[in-house]
Amino acid sequence: MLDTSKPLINLFRGWPNPSFHAPVALHRASSTVLSNPSLSAPALGYGPDEGYSPLRSEIAKWLTDFYAPRDRVVKERICITGGASQNLACLLQVFSDAVYTRNIWMVAPTYYLACGIFDDAGFAGKLRGVPEDEEGVDIGFLDEQMGLSERRASEMGNVKPMLKSPKPYRKIYKHIIYATPTFSNPSTKIMSLRRREQLIRLARKHDALIVTDDVYDHLQWSSSPVQGPLPAPDKAVLPRIVDIDRFLDGGPQDEFGNAVSNGSFSKLIGAGCRVGWAEGTEKFAYGVSQVGSSRSGGAPSQLTSTFVCQLLANKFLQSHILNVLQPGYAKRYHALVSAIQHHLVPLGVTFAVPTGDVAGGYFLWLGLPAGLRAKDLALKAQAEENLVIAGGNLFKVDGDNKEDKDGFQGFIRICFAWEEVKRFDEGLARLAELIRRELGKRE
Ligand SMILES: Cc1ncc(COP(=O)(O)O)c(C=O)c1O
Repeated sequence: MLDTSKPLINLFRGWPNPSFHAPVALHRASSTVLSNPSLSAPALGYGPDEGYSPLRSEIAKWLTDFYAPRDRVVKERICITGGASQNLACLLQVFSDAVYTRNIWMVAPTYYLACGIFDDAGFAGKLRGVPEDEEGVDIGFLDEQMGLSERRASEMGNVKPMLKSPKPYRKIYKHIIYATPTFSNPSTKIMSLRRREQLIRLARKHDALIVTDDVYDHLQWSSSPVQGPLPAPDKAVLPRIVDIDRFLDGGPQDEFGNAVSNGSFSKLIGAGCRVGWAEGTEKFAYGVSQVGSSRSGGAPSQLTSTFVCQLLANKFLQSHILNVLQPGYAKRYHALVSAIQHHLVPLGVTFAVPTGDVAGGYFLWLGLPAGLRAKDLALKAQAEENLVIAGGNLFKVDGDNKEDKDGFQGFIRICFAWEEVKRFDEGLARLAELIRRELGKRE
């Protein structure tokens, strides 16, 4: 029986709390665009395949400032997208072939909604989980498994793309590797620089495209509750994999490279904007723009692209990230950590504290005391406590049972981005009560 006598507390939803939205700035940006015919005409047209050119330039400048790559990011490396999810589907349409492309390798636990996008692209049964350790993806495991997959493909005579015609703007990769290297969803881990480099070398060896969802990189703060802001909150904690691919061992092996960064304004401005960007080599970025749905008119999200462009050009977004998002999420993160320490740690719940000075992202990944199963706990939390949490089982790779024999049943994910901070303590008190009851039944 659902107990709704207690107010609903939602620690599952991975959306920005509306207090992080900036409707006033967006209103101003939209008025600027729509009241000026030289801006409104392109804004209300289809726009170029690669997306609104001034936004590509603004993103290139902004990424150069934040990631400080050896060479600046140029607009030719950027293609405007409809957000990270929409663009993942487009990447698969252009750069994969569900027969020739052997497997999708997903760092696990994984952002579970990506599984459906791979499934839609014809990869059901071909998704494989790759375990993580403290430093990130397990390179040895991945190398071995990709080697096996390669051997199987050559035994089966899978030697050329079957479903996609050759085009000058595309390359069909043999493998796709999917990861969220910084503040991963759900594990919140940061993949080390060493692993990022190893991953590029592996991708080059096996002809793989690494797709990274770099959607949380700007949401970073000090992992210490007493330390105040980070010394350089406007600089990324590590280079992206796409940055490393530009220079490692002499740079990309061919004009397409082996990495694409899938960026998004969903967590920075508001998911409803549905604007993002892809960054890769110039040839790769052009290839993204040639996906059939963009060739049919132009890039997605043209109107909102023009609004977002205003927010970057007038530096609103840069200051919103530093002055609103980072301190706001830091406060939420530390409030949730302290509630976990108070209510859950005494019951045997564990959680990984960041190994360095930087915390970030949207989530905390908690280990349950032995004997509790995440799926049952999440169902009971909802039914008995009107509390919504995400069972770790959600984050296993669809159709693959190898990466964690227990399917992450020993974990839950808690989000600090959506629910009101004043409810965190109450939410975790309810969860603690439930865990106590469940542990009691096992005694
Ligand atoms: C890893 C990851 N990728 C992509 C998304 C969705 O991005 P978008 O709104 O740009 O499609 C999310 C949102 O939760 C995410 O956590």
